[in-house]
Amino acid sequence: MKLFGTSKINENGNLSIGGVDTVELAKEFKTPLYVMDQELIETTIDKMKEAFKSSRFGTQIAYAGKAFLTTGMAKLVEKKGLELDVVSGGELYTAYKAGFPMNRVHMHGNNKTYEELEMAVDYGIKEIVIDNEDEIEKIEKICKEKGKKQAVLIRIDPGIEAHTHSYIKTSGLTSKFGISLFQANLFDIVKRINNSQYLDFRGFHTHIGSQIFQSVFFIFALEEIFKYLDKLKKELGIVVHTVNMGGGFGVYYKEGDDPKPIEEVLKEIITYTEAMEIKYQIGFSELNIEPGRSIVGNAGTTLYTVGGIKETVGGKKYVFVDGGMSDNIRTALYQAEYEAGIVNKLEEKAEDEVTVAGKLCESGDILIQKGKLQKAEVGDILAITTTGAYCYTMSSNYNRMIKPAVVFVKDGKAKVAVKRETGDDLIRNDEIFEL
Ligand code: LLP
Repeated sequence: MKLFGTSKINENGNLSIGGVDTVELAKEFKTPLYVMDQELIETTIDKMKEAFKSSRFGTQIAYAGKAFLTTGMAKLVEKKGLELDVVSGGELYTAYKAGFPMNRVHMHGNNKTYEELEMAVDYGIKEIVIDNEDEIEKIEKICKEKGKKQAVLIRIDPGIEAHTHSYIKTSGLTSKFGISLFQANLFDIVKRINNSQYLDFRGFHTHIGSQIFQSVFFIFALEEIFKYLDKLKKELGIVVHTVNMGGGFGVYYKEGDDPKPIEEVLKEIITYTEAMEIKYQIGFSELNIEPGRSIVGNAGTTLYTVGGIKETVGGKKYVFVDGGMSDNIRTALYQAEYEAGIVNKLEEKAEDEVTVAGKLCESGDILIQKGKLQKAEVGDILAITTTGAYCYTMSSNYNRMIKPAVVFVKDGKAKVAVKRETGDDLIRNDEIFEL
């Protein structure tokens, strides 16, 4: 099991994260438990900010809240000086309640409701990313009613098919997201937005997919966008302010994954954009990205308690844990692969071939389909790494499972970011109606 950030084996022979012993964490906060390495999040952001700079244009990094968002996380993002990318009224509300500066928030999404758009305009967010033509009218109507003008980007789809799981690809000629660069009326759409008295047209946004290892796909997308910007300038005389490249930078999950260090990927993007800018003399002002997974993925570890071990007649060995697809649906949904270890046995060889299964009533409730583990026993604490992104945010109460707590650890202290749910949380909105 690869260890990230401040994770290490401590003097007791146990996994510690942020200077806190995971055996103690499991005792204090119960399992399952999401543990976030705050220092790793912070140093990753620092590295990204350092690498994503240009002397030719401005740069801005927005954290994609969909990867992991709580009010505490929003505060941390604010403190680290990033902008925030939200995709729903719920994420926007979380940021608002955390006191996140609204003029640093972008909102995208392929079907933002009227209420969500109203909320965005009322809060005065920095930019709304227009995903399709229907949205133009809605935002104009809201701005007209409220006497406001809203800054917008247009999400375009450059038609780049990155190598990643088909569920997390977001570009291609049949994508549900954005307006294709090859759509005949894109020029008309740009003109319409650019001429609107209620909209301030700032530029283009794209996001080609997630967990992408080959940085060349980002370069291909940039190239398409710059060719288009050139055309736009020559034919319509429009110079955009912002190009937002989205997120999608891949991270290590399991042996064999070999992502380029994020600093290198970002530097490549900067270098290439500078070259494009010189080549086309476009004069745009700001390059944005909105990474999620690459900021929080490796910083998260989930702790579980082993409750049973079963060897099937078919020769498969299961290790049962007290969570499952309710706290991490990624294996069931995308055939994601993870590494695991028994937190007090990490110095032992991981030689036992096992399937780590959850406790939910579903055969697909598997966390690790096939992995190597130290010899597990009932009562052991099992850690699964790289669960910082898209686990808590995709968690559910299926089987009326209660959602685990989330703690941030740093400098030997653990702070609760989300309390563990209780039975009362589960029935909070239930009504016993007259039968
Ligand atoms: N910007 C936009 C417009 C996005 O749609 C996404 C992710 C991001 C930024 C952040 O992408 P990241 O840097 O985190 O890859 N649930 C899936 C991932 C879905 C990603 C959706 N969009 C998973 O668990 O792998």
